[in-house]
Amino acid sequence: MGRARIKDFDGRICVVTGAASGIGRAAAIELAGKGARLALCDRNPDALAETARECAARAASGSTAGAATKSFVQAFDITSTEATEAFAAAVFAELGVPEAVFHVAGISIWGAIDVMPQSDWERLIDINLMGTVRVVRAFVPAMISAGRPGALAMVSSAAGLIGMPWHSAYSATKFGVRGIAEVLRFDLESKQISIHVVTPGAVDTPLVKSLEISGVDTSDPAVAKAQQQFSRHAVSPEQAAAKMIAGVTKGKYIIQTSPDIALAFAAQRYFPPAYSLAMRLLNRKLMRVARDAGIDA
Ligand SMILES: NC(=O)c1ccc[n+]([C@@H]2O[C@H](COP(=O)([O-])OP(=O)(O)OC[C@H]3O[C@@H](n4cnc5c(N)ncnc54)[C@H](O)[C@@H]3O)[C@@H](O)[C@H]2O)c1
Repeated sequence: MGRARIKDFDGRICVVTGAASGIGRAAAIELAGKGARLALCDRNPDALAETARECAARAASGSTAGAATKSFVQAFDITSTEATEAFAAAVFAELGVPEAVFHVAGISIWGAIDVMPQSDWERLIDINLMGTVRVVRAFVPAMISAGRPGALAMVSSAAGLIGMPWHSAYSATKFGVRGIAEVLRFDLESKQISIHVVTPGAVDTPLVKSLEISGVDTSDPAVAKAQQQFSRHAVSPEQAAAKMIAGVTKGKYIIQTSPDIALAFAAQRYFPPAYSLAMRLLNRKLMRVARDAGIDA
């Protein structure tokens, strides 16, 4: 049996989480331009409403037959199972069972293992990993019952592929997302639901500016300089979202948004010594930045 694939979004019901900012916002606007009927959520109601306005403008200026100028929006926190399930129920009632779910919402906290407090680990796991579990459990059973082709794209990270410095907690959540995907890609093949795991490298979004590093004053000039370097080789949220959406239509399982991460992941699998060297150099670089900023690393 051939693998199912969503090939276009015109008139299709699509859910986007984390739609108020960054990659989720850019994905919602691009999907609106492709004629999708959108259900958008985020914990930030004002910015979510702004995204919905931008989606309406993009849909109105497009020429797609199925374009709906009004998105269904609901603001809630994905740390609540009840609120996530209520959102899914409202989407089913307002629009119907979605054909595609783009789960983008997430946060980033880095930190050395001897510095990061338990509360940061728990917050990351609750939002990034359990948030994914809640979204998957709220939508996928209905998508299976609908019995038609569907797609589930989940945003992991480069940190869900490779071992970047000070990323142990963030990587735990993003490898976890990839773990869910790795199983569902086979479990759901016979149900016609394609699974996609997006693994961005640097993306220039508000997340980078609001990055938390446990025990580190991120306003320190040395840290700000490192952040600028990160932003310099970052892709835009629009580029990352476009890669995600195109990757779904092309039936890609792992969707890369930056060539450097694709290269590091290939090295990890096919040339491990080069991968280990690159990770060591990256680690040394971070330690240098930390020392320059007066951090005991
Ligand atoms: N920016 C990067 O460099 C980068 C790299 C790799 C992976 N990612 C991943 O991409 C995804 C999107 O990140 P972004 O860079 O667009 O960040 P962003 O901060 O611009 O957007 C994330 C959105 O998720 C929402 N969100 C966060 N926690 C939530 C919660 N508990 N409930 C509901 N909504 C919540 C935020 O309000 C925000 O609107 C995240 O999962 C992130 O881990 C980002």
